[in-house]
Amino acid sequence: MRLIASRPFLWLVLALPGIWILGQWWLTPDAYGYGHAIADSGDWAAWLLMATLFVTPLRLLRKADWTMWLMRRRRDLGVASFAYAAGHLIVYVWNKASLEAVLGEAGSPEILTGWLALALFLPLAVTSNDKYLRALKRSWKKLHRLVYPAAVLTFVHWVLTAFDPTTAYIHIGVLAAVELLRVYLQRRQRVT
Ligand code: HEM
Repeated sequence: MRLIASRPFLWLVLALPGIWILGQWWLTPDAYGYGHAIADSGDWAAWLLMATLFVTPLRLLRKADWTMWLMRRRRDLGVASFAYAAGHLIVYVWNKASLEAVLGEAGSPEILTGWLALALFLPLAVTSNDKYLRALKRSWKKLHRLVYPAAVLTFVHWVLTAFDPTTAYIHIGVLAAVELLRVYLQRRQRVT
């Protein structure tokens, strides 16, 4: 039980989709390839972002040991989301193969939203450790509220890049419902 609840074990589990993506690409480059790698890395970045945002509402709903455990691991989930987003960017840049091509596309709305989301996630990932939590004190919480505009940009990016945005809209609906629940529970329990 201790091993399953440990941080290294959590990171092993969080790394599995990445290992799967790399394995598929390595073993079946023609069948898997760039198209699947960019989509799967983007999906996992978005899913882990959603998982991070689900922790507080779950804690507000259930004051149990497992929700406390999730609260303590929330920063790990956020950093893992950033790691998949960084991997997603590497796949993209690798495919473009030139700085000129990357810069040429950077201004289009579907790609710009991705860059802006990543730019907002960067300071959050850097400060998601005890050192910055202690150093920034109350400002830490303020800074980390950037996760909300970053999440909005992420989902706009998903809608704009998708051939069929239905899946993106379903995710947006679920996240919006959970966020409304969080706001309602925070008001009812008078917490911020
Ligand atoms: C750094 C800038 C970024 C670039 C250049 C970029 C690029 C792309 C591209 C080219 C696609 C289209 C893939 C396709 O053709 O199917 C895509 C899709 C996607 N991206 Fe990004 N992205 C960036 C940042 C992000 C971030 C920060 C996230 C999430 C945290 C994200 C999540 C997604 C998702 C969920 C999809 C849709 C995947 C699917 O269709 O299943 N991206 N991105």
